[in-house]
Amino acid sequence: MSSHVCDVLVVGGGIVGLTAAWRAQEAGASVVVLDPSPGDGATHAAAGMLGAVMEAGFGEEGQARLGTASLALWPAFAAALERAADLPPGAVGLETAGTLALAYDRDDLVALRRLLALHSGWGLGSAEISPQDARRREPGVGPRVAGAAWVPGDHRVDPRAVQVALSRVVAARGTLVPHAAVSLTRSDGAVVGALDEAGTAYAAGTVVLAAGHASGSLFAGAPTRPVPGTTLRLDAGADRSPSVVVRGTVQGRPVYAVPRPVRPDGRREVIVGATSDEREDDHLTRAGDVFGLLRDVRALLPELDDAVLLEAVTRSRPGSPDNAPILGWAADGLFLATGHHRNGILLTPLTAAAVDQALGAPPDSADAVAAVEATTRFADPRRFTDAYSTTRGGTA
Ligand code: GLY
Repeated sequence: MSSHVCDVLVVGGGIVGLTAAWRAQEAGASVVVLDPSPGDGATHAAAGMLGAVMEAGFGEEGQARLGTASLALWPAFAAALERAADLPPGAVGLETAGTLALAYDRDDLVALRRLLALHSGWGLGSAEISPQDARRREPGVGPRVAGAAWVPGDHRVDPRAVQVALSRVVAARGTLVPHAAVSLTRSDGAVVGALDEAGTAYAAGTVVLAAGHASGSLFAGAPTRPVPGTTLRLDAGADRSPSVVVRGTVQGRPVYAVPRPVRPDGRREVIVGATSDEREDDHLTRAGDVFGLLRDVRALLPELDDAVLLEAVTRSRPGSPDNAPILGWAADGLFLATGHHRNGILLTPLTAAAVDQALGAPPDSADAVAAVEATTRFADPRRFTDAYSTTRGGTA
């Protein structure tokens, strides 16, 4: 059996795992990432909504606090990543243009108003506007929309571009091994490494478990489940695409459309999503899901009928029992970064701040302090495990 020694072993090479790897490298650690196909999990299907407000529903104040704390970190995170990857500003597609929320019928409007009232009670910014005002913002809004709201603080980024940037940075200084981890290695109750599917053993001072919904199969204290979602990638003319994130409900069914920046040829990709299921992870796209997403998005944005359907992708988000992330030390030597559910992209900078803190780098801004505090309060893995024995690092 061959073996490999490193400071930090990251299990999972999606946007969360690579972010942890990058931050560990910044802390001076030697890093190995294990993933048979990096970025081909939830990251691959993610639309990139940074919906700290509109993703927060009833009973989810903790997620709202985590989301707003992370959203505040996105501009600095994106700029630092672009610099580290030697990419031009804007390369990861962060756009802080706000979000338009739509209600298709009267019942959808009643539900939207209830949500706005909930958010207002939490101090989250949004305001009801008329359908006419919605059309002034987005001329493509359909004629039958019953109501709308403007959410100035919900933004967007391009997850695949973020993944490319992270891959460049991490690969330049670390080792990406195209194999899956099959087990964690323990010694005296501590996690000290992992074994991969090729039989290679890795010894590490710290293991970061960021294997998405599969994390639970490696560590019982990370009780994750797959929450499959389908997104569609459309190629639209810029004049027929929304210019900001449009999300809404159509007879109670949620749907959203997230535009990418306009390309030089005047075309624009629009990501339409997403279904949210409780079933196994099989990467198979159901015909009815494609039908349902297109039916509902065209009710809100009829001009998307003329877009070209490029891709339908189904991948699984990692859900936890309470749908909040599992982020922090869970055993000596084991840091968990999983369970981000519908907010993996939104919560990426918060994850970075938590990893920085865990590896000894104190938060470098008031926003990072707030992110670490929110993580400690709402994402501590110890709510699911009693396996924790040794206090280690700031989030412990
Ligand atoms: N964040 C939106 C989704 O997971 O569909």
